[in-house]
This record gives sequence, C-alpha cells and structure tokens, in this order.
Amino acid sequence: MAIFPGSFDPITNGHLDIVGRSLRVFDDVRVAILVNPDKRPLFSVEERVAIIREAYRGNRRVAVDTFSGLLVDYAEAVGASVIVRGIRAISDFEFEFQMALMNRRLNPRIETVFMMPAESYSYLSSRLVKEVFQLGGKVTGLVPPVVERRLREKYGAASRAIEAPPARPRRIR
Ligand code: PNS
Repeated sequence: MAIFPGSFDPITNGHLDIVGRSLRVFDDVRVAILVNPDKRPLFSVEERVAIIREAYRGNRRVAVDTFSGLLVDYAEAVGASVIVRGIRAISDFEFEFQMALMNRRLNPRIETVFMMPAESYSYLSSRLVKEVFQLGGKVTGLVPPVVERRLREKYGAASRAIEAPPARPRRIR
C-alpha cells in the first residue's frame, strides 16, 4: 500500500493521474489529507474527504484518510512503507527533494517514490484551479466533475464563473 499525501484543496486531474499511475505499481493507494490548522483552505477537511470518496466511488483500491502531525508517523501507524509524490516540473523538485530526505532521516524505513503526471497536467495546481474558477475561467477537464460541482456550490450565484460575462480588455491611453 502506498500513501499519497497532500492538501488536495481541491483534488485535481493531475492528482488523479498520479493515483492512476500509483495503482499500476501498488495494490492499494491511500489518499491522505493533511489536517493543517494554520491554513485556511477553501474546502474543509470533511468536504475534501467527501469529494475524493465520490471521485473514487466503487474503486476498492483507493481509500481516503486524514492525518495530522508527521507524515512518516502516520505512514508507520497505518503500516505503509511508501509515500508517493507527484513532480510536475523542476520547480517542484527542490521542495520535494528536501521533504523526501527529511522524511528519510525521520524514518529510514519509509521510501518516497516520485511520479510524473501526464504532460497535459504539468502546469496544473489546486491554487490555479481556485483562482481561475473564481475569476470566471473554465476548469472543465482540469478537475473531476464532483470538484466542478462543489466549486459552483461553494461560490454560488456570486461566482463570475456562472453569471458574469468574460472580462473585456481595457484600452491603455
Ligand atoms: O499538497 P501539499 O500541500 O504539497 O502536501 C504537503 C504535505 C502534506 C505532503 C506535507 O506538508 C506534509 O507531509 N506535512 C505533514 C507534516 C510533516 O511530516 N512535515 C515534515 C515533512 S519533511
């Protein structure tokens, strides 16, 4: 079993791509959402769990869980020896490298495995999805349908994604 940890606020098709690739290598994947009281997420932990459960409904090889504290302690507690992380570009590398080595120092029994998503998701991030949606851009094809629906529910009629016409460029005088 491999753990795929993250914030998943919200989960994107890039994350789903990494889960899919992980399922080619590991029997089971546990998506583990970090409970971080210092962050103010768009979706609550409960909402993120529900979203991911819905995205993987019927797939018995994917489980969803939450954790707080050290990731390696969580991995040890659930009997996992592998952490999966996605790397989109070189810009991800430095932080991921630091994290993998720190995790190894904390618990050498746990290995980090990096996977690259499809090129078409290499620019995708949860932060950009939220920003684009809020500003009226389309996120279809970038997130699973359940996330699109939840984004609409979250922003309601106030969302420019639903109501407002596209922004017009303003002439610079
Ligand atoms: O989706 P994210 O925000 O890139 O995920 C980061 C995450 C949750 C994997 C990382 O912040 C984490 O593992 N946090 C748990 C605390 C911990 O173990 N910190 C030491 C890591 S070296």
